[in-house]
Amino acid sequence: MCGIVGYSGKRSAADFLINGLKKLEYRGYDSAGIAVNCGGKIVTVKAEGRMENLERKLAQAALPEAFCGIGHTRWATHGEPSDINSHPHSAGRVTLVHNGIIENYAKRKQHLEEKGRVFVSQTDTEVIAQLLDYYYADNPVEAIQKTLTKLRGSYALAILFSDRPDTIYAVRKDSPLVIGKGKDEICIASDIPAFLSVTKDYYLLEEGEIAIVRNGDVRFLDEWGNETVKQLNTATWNFEEAEKCGYKHFMLKEMHEEPKSLKNTIYPRIADGIDHILEKELASTESIRRLYIVGCGSAMHAGLLGKSAIESLAHIPCSVEIASEFRYGTPLFADGDAVVLISQSGETADSLAVLKLAREKGVPVIAIVNVVGSSIARGADIVLYTNAGPEIAVATTKAYTAQVAVLYMMALRLGIDRKTVSRERAEQIFEALKQLPEKAEEVLANETEYQRMATTYRNSHDLFFIGRGQDWAICCEGSLKLKEISYMHSEAYAAGELKHGTISLIEEGVPVIAISTTAALREKTISNLKEVLARGAHVIYECPASAVPEQKFYHDIIVLPDIDESVMPILAIIPLQMIAYYTAVDRGSDVDKPRNLAKSVTVE
Ligand code: AGP
Repeated sequence: MCGIVGYSGKRSAADFLINGLKKLEYRGYDSAGIAVNCGGKIVTVKAEGRMENLERKLAQAALPEAFCGIGHTRWATHGEPSDINSHPHSAGRVTLVHNGIIENYAKRKQHLEEKGRVFVSQTDTEVIAQLLDYYYADNPVEAIQKTLTKLRGSYALAILFSDRPDTIYAVRKDSPLVIGKGKDEICIASDIPAFLSVTKDYYLLEEGEIAIVRNGDVRFLDEWGNETVKQLNTATWNFEEAEKCGYKHFMLKEMHEEPKSLKNTIYPRIADGIDHILEKELASTESIRRLYIVGCGSAMHAGLLGKSAIESLAHIPCSVEIASEFRYGTPLFADGDAVVLISQSGETADSLAVLKLAREKGVPVIAIVNVVGSSIARGADIVLYTNAGPEIAVATTKAYTAQVAVLYMMALRLGIDRKTVSRERAEQIFEALKQLPEKAEEVLANETEYQRMATTYRNSHDLFFIGRGQDWAICCEGSLKLKEISYMHSEAYAAGELKHGTISLIEEGVPVIAISTTAALREKTISNLKEVLARGAHVIYECPASAVPEQKFYHDIIVLPDIDESVMPILAIIPLQMIAYYTAVDRGSDVDKPRNLAKSVTVE
């Protein structure tokens, strides 16, 4: 997944492009580049590595003043990170930046080489530039339309033609692209944070449309080439929210935003009382007989908690599916089935593919998404937004807990509709949902405790998480957080599984985090915990205040505020997020942009 930007207006294009790319680095950061159109002469500067390498090159390039340009920050898919494979790519009079994957690029490249075209990079993107230049006589729109018919795959493109000095053409399919509208200036970007410093007003470019940006204004052509008028949206985020605001890392800021994110996600949906929870978004639920809860990574882990809650409260069978597996399986959909698709970015390629699969099969899709107007949000039948605000760190925290909160509200709503949860029990859970933001603040108040634990175990080679039921789902997410940002090996084990093999990995000093939010399973989890203790493990035990054992059989303890255990996983994950964060800081990894990862995986 990559980030693209474009600018046309009254300020220095290069300045906007660099600042915009910095806001999109979470989308990919193995190389970057910009191209500006100076009165018909396109000047391109690009560099492997981080933005500072590009800025260093730009300082030496002494770019002429320009008010129109495009930029790109890359997450390599075809061709290793290098100067030559960096975007923008050019061919003849065409220069462009691309986010996505062209699946038939090899065949198109071969055809063009047979026609004498010479390629300089190993990228799929260069094929687009060559095709555009091949078709370009004197009509850019015609050249674009012809080129797009030859491409199979995903793309968001910003294109310059050297003989159209002040103009940028933008088009998309399957990859995101938004057009920011300022006063006499237009910004093009993969995501809204890139231009929040200029404007909060934006257009969503639909597939098949072409945006023509010129001299600080924009017009749109529909897929038949006719002028079309589009709705102008206003971002609910502000510039500061997309900034670090004094925190060392976005991830730390976003963990501290979890109380606010939970409040913004829960309160609007419970404001009218328990009988109206989610009623605006989930108008009718009686037809639902079975749910396929689908996502990738943390989103799938949130789904594990959703399954547990929905099955226990609403007695609706749920299966939790990994999107990249589900899309290639043979789901035996039946009447009454629905897909719950969970995605922070709303652009994850594998999750998008599940959306398309469900639509082809006529199965309704309920999306739980954070990015307003994202592809999954736009393609689903029902959207339940997580209202977490912009999440910049690659490792999700506030969006994950907000996803779980939405799933809990959904479980409660389904249970009330089906009368499978008693009024008394429903009111207890409703009350607990209200308490979550405040209780999350209490958990965050013990940050130094989590930092100390991280420091204690920062040099461990492995760290295991064990738990049962919903606690195992928390383990899965805690383990992923630790792995993805600290690069420490970790695994999550259903506690009952240890004796079936994995306990052989336990030896003197191996840290094990045992999670117990569920009273009914606590005794069993404690006996599993004692099994690993007996083999030399260092155990961190996590449980609610009311369940702190009299006998101190653990090395360390994470005490959670008491709250109804049905929603306690939302609190239980926060210390694990913090332990992962401080472990990563201690081990010197790039917390917000971990190696090999990107915030939204828009490639398969
Ligand atoms: C979680 O910290 C990771 N960044 C990753 O697992 C992520 O949850 C997954 O790629 C799904 O992304 P999405 O929610 O944007 O679809």
